[in-house]
Amino acid sequence: MSGKSKVNGVASPQIEIIDAIDDPKYEQFLYWCIIHRRAKWIPITSYTDYENDFRYRYLKAAIPKGFHKKVLFLNGDYVAMIEYASAEVSGYPITNDSVIVMNCIWVLRKDRGNNYAKLLIQEMMDSEKEASGFATIGLENHWTVWLKRKQMEGLGFKSVRSIELMHKIRHQGRRFTLHLMWMPVKEGAKPPTWDESKLLEGT
Ligand SMILES: CC(C)(COP(=O)(O)OP(=O)(O)OC[C@H]1O[C@@H](n2cnc3c(N)ncnc32)[C@H](O)[C@@H]1OP(=O)(O)O)[C@@H](O)C(=O)NCCC(=O)NCCS
Repeated sequence: MSGKSKVNGVASPQIEIIDAIDDPKYEQFLYWCIIHRRAKWIPITSYTDYENDFRYRYLKAAIPKGFHKKVLFLNGDYVAMIEYASAEVSGYPITNDSVIVMNCIWVLRKDRGNNYAKLLIQEMMDSEKEASGFATIGLENHWTVWLKRKQMEGLGFKSVRSIELMHKIRHQGRRFTLHLMWMPVKEGAKPPTWDESKLLEGT
């Protein structure tokens, strides 16, 4: 998707959304999050053992099954991105065959409040017409900035399930709530569920 227009003779910002899986020149966006701005990108294929890289193997399995990573460029510079996949190959143990799972969304701080996140959500919805709805996770009372429940609600998701968790090693004793966030788009869509045992794997 792209767009450029003139209002009263003044050029308005040019917004372009690309899918990083479509062109090798965007490969970098498949491997790092735009929050980590890097001066120089090191191509994955220059690693000695890139075929055993976790992300490489994940992408190899997930791209044929509906993984997408879309990046929004403003006047040629990246400012926002969204990553999503079918529930089968998403990064979260969310189950429901007709659901698309948003793994991540991020808008650079300086560019927030301009509807870029909403544009990316719309882009995801427009390209996934078969989906009964969209799911993601939301964190409450967590001490990081990641995927806050309130922010996900602002994007149109609502909590349909939650679990109270604690990390096993760091911040022991500090509890937070993980929410399964859901945005149905088809009438009567069945909310997704998740595999709690997988949620409890790891530290
Ligand atoms: C949430 C986020 C994507 C919103 O991006 P944005 O471009 O500023 O959002 P938009 O301008 O499209 O606004 C979308 C809606 O989100 C809501 N919103 C935005 N920031 C919010 C906030 N801090 N708290 C609650 N709601 C918020 C707004 O209400 C807005 O809805 P409205 O226009 O109907 O009022 C952005 O703040 C972000 O990147 N946060 C971090 C997300 C994260 O933790 N990602 C995890 C990485 S894995």
